[in-house]
Amino acid sequence: MKLSRRKFFVKTLHGTALLAVTPALSAFLESCNTVTNPNSPQANLPRLSGTEANGTLTVNIDPNSALAKPGNAAIIGYSKGTLLVDHPSDTTYNVLSSICTHQQCSIDSFDSSSGEFICYCHGSRFDVNGAVRQGPAISPLAKYSSQFANNQLIIRI
Ligand code: FES
Repeated sequence: MKLSRRKFFVKTLHGTALLAVTPALSAFLESCNTVTNPNSPQANLPRLSGTEANGTLTVNIDPNSALAKPGNAAIIGYSKGTLLVDHPSDTTYNVLSSICTHQQCSIDSFDSSSGEFICYCHGSRFDVNGAVRQGPAISPLAKYSSQFANNQLIIRI
């Protein structure tokens, strides 16, 4: 089959355009499918641990703990994964799921100036109560009930 110059030119142009778009399209599709970031490069939350028993996770918060000072936040590791904890005032702690509601990346960063947990997979931000402040996530982070007394944070898991 013989191509006219015009048809050859149009086919070549389409092929070149497709080659130019493919890496960008591939990167876009890849970013949409990224669902894990077990320690993102931007991770800045201290990691603590606790003791599990009878459906609770107990975290000791002594004066040297990363969570002792109001305004701080941390990640608590336990057998089922991790939780985000924020300490807004003296006896108040917020405990949230660290699993982003967009595409289930692990959230491991906190912006203390804005008071937002950040998911660096696609940029979602959540306030210390888990509400979405910036998408693409549209649903809040799951919240866990907790109590603080005698330097112990007891989380119902
Ligand atoms: Fe996409 Fe968190 S998984 S913003």
